[in-house]
Amino acid sequence: MDTARHLSHPPLSIVGDVGVDLVLGSLTEWPQLGTELLMPRSELRPGGSGANAALAARHIGHRAHLISAVGNDHFGQWLAEQFAGIETSLEICDIETTVSVGLMHTCGERNFFTTQGHLQRVSAEHVLAHLLPTDAPAIALFTAPFLLTDLRPRYAALMAEAGRRGYRVALDTGWPPEGWDRAEVMSWLPHCDHLLINELEAQSIAGTDDLDNALTLIGGAMKPDASLIVKVGARGALGIEGGRRVERITEPAEIFDTIGAGDAFNAGYLAARLRGGDLAEGLAAGCRTAGAILPRFPRKTIRAGEFAGCLPSTVLA
Ligand SMILES: Nc1ncnc2c1ncn2[C@@H]1O[C@H](COP(=O)(O)OP(=O)(O)OP(=O)(O)O)[C@@H](O)[C@H]1O
Ligand SMILES: [Mg+2]
Repeated sequence: MDTARHLSHPPLSIVGDVGVDLVLGSLTEWPQLGTELLMPRSELRPGGSGANAALAARHIGHRAHLISAVGNDHFGQWLAEQFAGIETSLEICDIETTVSVGLMHTCGERNFFTTQGHLQRVSAEHVLAHLLPTDAPAIALFTAPFLLTDLRPRYAALMAEAGRRGYRVALDTGWPPEGWDRAEVMSWLPHCDHLLINELEAQSIAGTDDLDNALTLIGGAMKPDASLIVKVGARGALGIEGGRRVERITEPAEIFDTIGAGDAFNAGYLAARLRGGDLAEGLAAGCRTAGAILPRFPRKTIRAGEFAGCLPSTVLA
């Protein structure tokens, strides 16, 4: 093991997806086939829930270690350069980089068109080689299991291993493009110290429209001292821990694109918990972090030059 690196390891490790996002908007209605539309706003930026959480952590001045991958092309090189100030361990997969086009609608809804790209190739071996054992308080956040198709069957084993290596384990399932395998998700829950999902995901995992019933069912499958966090968009977030329920209400804001809302929340919440904050402080920090990042368009979470001279510590495997 690389002892020097072990000692300086940031307390927040993020295992998840990194890709290129092209965000465009806004559409008032779905266009006719064969037409061309001019989009008044657009941004090409690093995306994917793992990247979004790492960039949000950087935004609030919290150190993070991003364990992920890029494709073997220009976009992959460009992506790897976007994480100055964040410790990155990026596997280079011999395939094109995953690209996602996000179309914003004036009603606030959005559509994504995403290529499979390199995310299907991220390997468990890479994750295990970089998620180093720790004896200091640390959290490993796992995201986007449904996009990481090679990793997905190993998710339960990876989270269990992260626990054995000294991490508290956090999971944000995200949304499965091909539908829910509820039994699979239930098999991940016993490994989670923090589950961070949204309302619709909670209802889908539990197979019920009744949120309270969903929370009871999901909470029952987690460790007795685990925290179940549900993000409810512009309304804020709620958490359940040790049978106690805490709600955090936010002020709805006019936001052009809410992409990465949940990931920014995750970074703020987990950073607060790592600082010793309780459930209420975690929820408040999650909402505060999302609220600080979402209104920014373009999103760029650092000012140009802020990390000048700080080379990304990319590990190429
Ligand atoms: N329109 C909004 N106005 C103010 N805050 C918002 C708005 N949308 C989201 N947020 C903030 O972002 C947090 C997370 O958002 P949300 O509940 O949409 O998560 P999510 O569905 O997991 O997001 P994602 O689409 O990134 O997966 C909320 O708890 C809230 O603090
Ligand atoms: Mg989410």
